[in-house]
Amino acid sequence: MMINYNHTVFVFLLLSLGIFKLGSCSENNVTVKCIKSEREALVRFKEGVGSPAKLSSWVGEDCCQWKGVECDNESGHVTKLNLSNPAGRPRHFDYATTNRNLPCTVCSDVLAVSSPYARSSAKSARLLGDVNSSFSGDVNASLSGEITRYLGNLSNLTHLDLGGNYNLSTKNLDWVSSLSSLEYLYMGGVKINPTKADWLHAINMLPSLRELSLYSCELKHLPSSLTFLNLTSLRVLDLSYNKFNTSIDLSYNPFNTSIPQWLFNLTRLKNLDLTFSNQRGKIPDSFGRLESLKYLYLGGNHFYGSIPASIGNLSSLKELDLSYNEMNGTIPESFGQLSMLVKLYLLENSWEGVITEAQLMNLTSLEEFVLTTNNKSQPLVFNVKDDWRPPFKLKILHLESCRIGPKFPMWLQVQSELTNVILKNVEINGTIPEEWFSMISSNLTHLDLSNNRIEGNLPHQLVFPNVTKLFLQSNLFSGPIPPNISDLMPSLQYLDLSENRLYGKIPLSISKIKYLNILVLRRNNLSGELPHQWNESQKGLRVVDISYNNICGKIPSSMGFLGNLSILVLSNNNLSGEIPSSLQNCSIVSMDFGGNRLSGNLPSWIESDIFMLRLRSNLFSGTIPRKWCNLHKLRILDLAQNNLFGGIPNCLNNFTAMVDHNISGYKPIENYTEKASIMRKGREMEYDRTLSLVTCIDLSGNNLTGRIPFEITSLTRLDTLNLSMNHLFGNIPKNIGDLQLLETLDFSNNKLFGPIPESMSSLTFLVHLNLSFNNLTGRIPSGDQLQTINDATMYKGNPLLCGPPLLTKCPGDETSDDPTITDAEDKPNGDDYERIWFYASIGLGFVVGFWSVCGTILLKKSWRHRYFRFCDDIKDRIALLITLRVVHLKRKFGLEKN
Ligand SMILES: *[C@@H]1O[C@H](CO)[C@@H](O)[C@H](O)[C@H]1NC(C)=O
Ligand SMILES: *[C@@H]1O[C@H](CO)[C@@H](O)[C@H](O)[C@H]1NC(C)=O
Ligand SMILES: *[C@@H]1O[C@H](CO)[C@@H](O)[C@H](O)[C@H]1NC(C)=O
Ligand SMILES: *[C@@H]1O[C@H](CO)[C@@H](O)[C@H](O)[C@H]1NC(C)=O
Ligand SMILES: *[C@@H]1O[C@H](CO)[C@@H](O)[C@H](O)[C@H]1NC(C)=O
Ligand SMILES: *[C@@H]1O[C@H](CO)[C@@H](O)[C@H](O)[C@H]1NC(C)=O
Ligand SMILES: *[C@@H]1O[C@H](CO)[C@@H](O)[C@H](O)[C@H]1NC(C)=O
Ligand SMILES: *[C@@H]1O[C@H](CO)[C@@H](O)[C@H](O)[C@H]1NC(C)=O
Ligand SMILES: *[C@@H]1O[C@H](CO)[C@@H](O)[C@H](O)[C@H]1NC(C)=O
Repeated sequence: MMINYNHTVFVFLLLSLGIFKLGSCSENNVTVKCIKSEREALVRFKEGVGSPAKLSSWVGEDCCQWKGVECDNESGHVTKLNLSNPAGRPRHFDYATTNRNLPCTVCSDVLAVSSPYARSSAKSARLLGDVNSSFSGDVNASLSGEITRYLGNLSNLTHLDLGGNYNLSTKNLDWVSSLSSLEYLYMGGVKINPTKADWLHAINMLPSLRELSLYSCELKHLPSSLTFLNLTSLRVLDLSYNKFNTSIDLSYNPFNTSIPQWLFNLTRLKNLDLTFSNQRGKIPDSFGRLESLKYLYLGGNHFYGSIPASIGNLSSLKELDLSYNEMNGTIPESFGQLSMLVKLYLLENSWEGVITEAQLMNLTSLEEFVLTTNNKSQPLVFNVKDDWRPPFKLKILHLESCRIGPKFPMWLQVQSELTNVILKNVEINGTIPEEWFSMISSNLTHLDLSNNRIEGNLPHQLVFPNVTKLFLQSNLFSGPIPPNISDLMPSLQYLDLSENRLYGKIPLSISKIKYLNILVLRRNNLSGELPHQWNESQKGLRVVDISYNNICGKIPSSMGFLGNLSILVLSNNNLSGEIPSSLQNCSIVSMDFGGNRLSGNLPSWIESDIFMLRLRSNLFSGTIPRKWCNLHKLRILDLAQNNLFGGIPNCLNNFTAMVDHNISGYKPIENYTEKASIMRKGREMEYDRTLSLVTCIDLSGNNLTGRIPFEITSLTRLDTLNLSMNHLFGNIPKNIGDLQLLETLDFSNNKLFGPIPESMSSLTFLVHLNLSFNNLTGRIPSGDQLQTINDATMYKGNPLLCGPPLLTKCPGDETSDDPTITDAEDKPNGDDYERIWFYASIGLGFVVGFWSVCGTILLKKSWRHRYFRFCDDIKDRIALLITLRVVHLKRKFGLEKN
């Protein structure tokens, strides 16, 4: 008995241990051995991908022990294969990715970063940095090579995750169709041979499939019809970032959409992602059939029209993203039924119509509401009753270029949990509702009320402990900047109060805001001196723009402590004294001190990274420093209207950025657009986003002597050259015609002599030429562009010039019947704007927008190629726009020869 009892206990013990073991340890320890044929299939797979280090554990007989492989406890069949590369997971739109429930269930969380709201905070900037550094390790872990069809022998596979392996490819998906138990298939990033149209056919053989992720697989073909759909279990479908060839003629398509109809039979779908998949037409009403949808991402396509009323059927919807489409219709009233909706992203469309309580009524769960329009003519209007109280508590509110004013509406003023408030260009006037702001001030991180007509003082009492961004530019604010601003907003990083009516002194405490990054106070009525207690603790400060105020006194030498200061704009004030040499400790790439009373010698210590050096209209004297010959990134050199003397250095050909398009010291800075006035065509024009495209030398209005150095003719990107009102003598360089992009050329009021070089007639972009009041001689060259800007005044005051457009005939000329004298009046300026537009479109205007979408990914060369193929698409579109524009311009300027 005893023995038996003991024996039973022993067996029981053994059994329970065994069971414990089996139950607790997923790494199928001793008991199971993998099946030989499946081991073989895995070995073949390993060979196909070049046996990388990542698969180094793939040795030994029992493949169930290999990393990434899981087997069934009893049968030994491989059931799961996880070889994903988390670092390769896509980041969707920057704005929408915080906590987004991505279809991929196995990816690490590190990449779920960065809505524009989160990204801008220091925290996520760091996070982004961390992510990038973790990529460098992980990207190497990406498998590369070809997936063999033997993988199809893993007949009991339920999970297959190869996502994020951008260097992996497969000739077709036929092998997938034999994996009849498959429930989860993640192949995002894997290149699936785009010539094969039958990928869907293979997938359709998987009746148990619950989740399918094929983002960025280079798929081109999305069949519009299927005879039979087996995928009735599908819950998650991610086809984002594929360039589906959807150029079907929508007008012959009864549904007027490129979304295939079979998709609407997937009635159990919870998550549908068609971001950047080249879909067109209207958003079909059939979406109302997908009643289980929780996440619907349709951003970055070409949808137009209205949101269908059937959207109201999606009673489980939590997130909706329609951003970056061409939606030019309305938001239906049925929208108000989406009581589960948490995040609503409607950025960058052309929304029209009216939003009333009806659309907002039952949005009880709404936390993030983002809507911006680019429809200038008939913007969307919020027309909500003043006594209406919404059922939601928003955290993020971003409304832009629609109308919610003229007052701050009450339905906003009851929102008490806001962290981000962006009400930009929404036609609000009146004063800031302090009560509302005092309610939300403690949690607020981002406040942007720019481009409205808000008046009154800035709040002087409210403490905003967590605000990092404060944008109040282009309003009617008046009064002083709160003197204790560093106490009120200790976390500020971005402060833009420009274009208001602020007066008084710039508070000293501004130099105590530790994390300040940009400080923009331009175009106010600020007076007094610049704050002079700058110190090393403000490491982050990169931009100081206090231009167009009434600041007097000297530039404080303590600014030299701002080691990362790269843009310093103090133009159009009353500053005097010399430029402190301590500024050489900064990292200046742009210095604009124009329109002050600064004196002394030019700063010879300027560093070679500088992109713009604008010191015009001051009292500088002395010569142009020879050391500046090193400024190979300089694009804008404006020293006009000073007391400079001496010669023009003959090393100008060292300014290689004026030759080579690719060299540029200009770096776009987040949340700041540098603006500067440049003299073109004899008048000042303000440039902002196009500033990086300007290439200009203006030395006019000084006492410069000597010859025009011929080296200047090597600066082939130069568009403006103004040396007028000096004492230059000698000939105009013969090769002046090499400056093919020159638009403005002014040598007037010097002592130049000799002939006007014939090459000048090849300057096809020239629109403004002034050679008056010199001693030039001989015949005025004629030809293409010179003919079109023909105007006698530009040659005036050169008694020895002859030929048209002057009346003076050259010796030996026959009498001409119709002297081509035009009016002294300049041509209309419309063309000018055209041309600026033109440059804008080539350059930064698009680049900035483009960069903000694609830029983050461009950081990592190794996968940007595959990853954001849609960028190419956008580039194509830009290229097309430019081409069209060029054709248009050529017509307009009569440059087309035939
Ligand atoms: C089996 O699993 C146990 C517990 O995890 C572990 O200690 C042991 O080393 C494993 N044996 C083998 C052969 O992997
Ligand atoms: C596993 O594979 C075997 C052989 O291929 C097959 O007979 C069996 O039905 C499969 N089991 C499951 C659960 O799919
Ligand atoms: C799925 O549908 C196809 C037709 O597209 C059919 O030939 C096939 O038998 C179906 N497969 C399963 C497993 O139901
Ligand atoms: C989709 O559903 C409709 C109506 O329920 C049906 O007529 C059609 O055949 C289905 N299409 C496919 C491809 O299953
Ligand atoms: C919206 O855009 C489509 C396609 O560009 C156009 O056909 C339609 O007329 C527009 N609708 C409105 C209301 O502007
Ligand atoms: C909002 O919800 C209420 C109660 O649940 C319901 O009676 C009403 O019809 C809903 N309104 C809309 C626009 O869906
Ligand atoms: C600030 O945010 C926290 C966390 O989201 C919340 O619990 C708290 O109520 C908020 N404070 C105010 C004043 O809304
Ligand atoms: C605000 O705008 C409304 C409508 O444009 C106008 O009637 C009102 O006078 C403005 N109020 C102020 C204070 O400017
Ligand atoms: C806001 O600031 C307060 C006080 O500095 C701090 O306790 C709190 O954690 C901050 N809240 C957020 C959401 O950052």
